[in-house]
Amino acid sequence: MKKLFITTAIDYTNGVIHIGHAYEKILADSYARYQRKKLGDSNVLFTTGTDEHGTTSQKAAEKRGLTPLQHVTEISNLDQEQIDALNISYTRFIRTTDEDHKAKAEEFFQKAYAAGDIYKATYKGFYCEGCEAHKTLSELDEKGQCPNHPSRQIQELDEENYFFKWSKYQGFLKNLIESNELEIKPEGKRKEMLAFLESGLKDITVSRPKYKVSWGIQTPVDSAQVIYVWFDALINYVTEGLPKGFWDEDTEIVHFVGKDIARWHTLLWPAMLKSVGYRLPNKVYVHGFVNLNGRKISKSLGNIILPTELVQKYGVDAVRYYLLKQGPIVEDSDISEESLKEVYNSDLANGLGNTVARIAKMAEKSGFVFNDLPSIPSDDYPFEKDFRVDLVLAHLKELLGNLDKHINENEPWKIEDEEKLKAVLIYEVGEITRIAKLYEPFVPNTSNKIIAQFSNSHIKAQEGLFPKIK
Ligand code: ME8
Ligand code: MG
Repeated sequence: MKKLFITTAIDYTNGVIHIGHAYEKILADSYARYQRKKLGDSNVLFTTGTDEHGTTSQKAAEKRGLTPLQHVTEISNLDQEQIDALNISYTRFIRTTDEDHKAKAEEFFQKAYAAGDIYKATYKGFYCEGCEAHKTLSELDEKGQCPNHPSRQIQELDEENYFFKWSKYQGFLKNLIESNELEIKPEGKRKEMLAFLESGLKDITVSRPKYKVSWGIQTPVDSAQVIYVWFDALINYVTEGLPKGFWDEDTEIVHFVGKDIARWHTLLWPAMLKSVGYRLPNKVYVHGFVNLNGRKISKSLGNIILPTELVQKYGVDAVRYYLLKQGPIVEDSDISEESLKEVYNSDLANGLGNTVARIAKMAEKSGFVFNDLPSIPSDDYPFEKDFRVDLVLAHLKELLGNLDKHINENEPWKIEDEEKLKAVLIYEVGEITRIAKLYEPFVPNTSNKIIAQFSNSHIKAQEGLFPKIK
């Protein structure tokens, strides 16, 4: 039996996650739910969590007068609340301050060191704390700031670090990506990663001196240095995957990440794994950015929405549905509460909810006992190959539209012949149940409610699934 390991990025703990981070969780979750139907629950491992070390978390703690651990624990708990409110079916919420992770990170560093891939040298250059990444001049904007974090002052570093021999893996990585042994989706991102490789890899810092950054995992080779936060964070995947038996050759490993961190996952991570002799991931799925009301979501701009705020107002499945439909699966996308309401009313209140209500009402009125429904073939969606959830949702909407048309054309309320009416209703009940099953990975609670409603041999009309919003 094939196993599958699905991961999201783990979020920085300088602040609580927002609706942009939520998109990635919902995307990965719907994939996990879909795959569990095919592979069985126990064959799918699904992790998410928090990336707690490094400068931004340390500084955020200092600002609040808390110890780093107090601060990150608080944020991590708040993040988990957000994720739970979105009904994300992770099997482990991993924290980089967890003991098993710290041990794994040390062991991994030691192995790469023993392999001769880590050496000491001086780093002189720029550093963006928002990215937690070293930058070359060409990566900065005309004002000398990081384009992703324009409100943060760029740092100039001159310090002793340990370096990882990234350059040594250039040819290996090129071959890995060109051969599609590591699949990068979508295609545009694959090209971008190859182009970056072409420009040449330089060795990369994998530790920081403690007098600069104290909040980190001490390197096993030098007590004056902590492991650089990216080297530490990427290892979270094996911390959970390896002991659970999901880092072996029978497992397909899929990482979901945003476009700003694709490089780490497609170029650094495979080189790190190769260095220590662990297997490589199969796929990295790269999504774009969610913008809110036409602007980048950012604390300094003051346009943050917490997932829980929307969930309380519209319900978890409406938020999931909206983000999956509207989200940046390939290109960046813009969301707003106004358009959420529109989609809610058109697709959920009038669409799915209304069709369910119509069929249930007619079924109840007929008084028939529905106990001999035909078994339902479970369709595949045009989804698996390229994870296009937006297209799947469009496809399901079309199926619903066809069913509605079937109701309008047959006008069951006018049919007097009992046999004929029964045949029409059995078809419609069967079809709405089939469609509800197809919706399960995306809107699990709603789907289960519909399935339960129509699995009853005495079908009853129920309260509207999605009351219309003014
Ligand atoms: O990068 N729209 O953490 P992070 C869509 N700790 N996705 C977004 C987004 C938006 N507006 N904002 C952020 C880190 N994301 C590291 C990851 S993994 C070993 C370490 C996505 O909190 C972002 O692209 O900055 C990333 O995939 C994830 O949220 C966490 O971002
Ligand atoms: Mg970020």
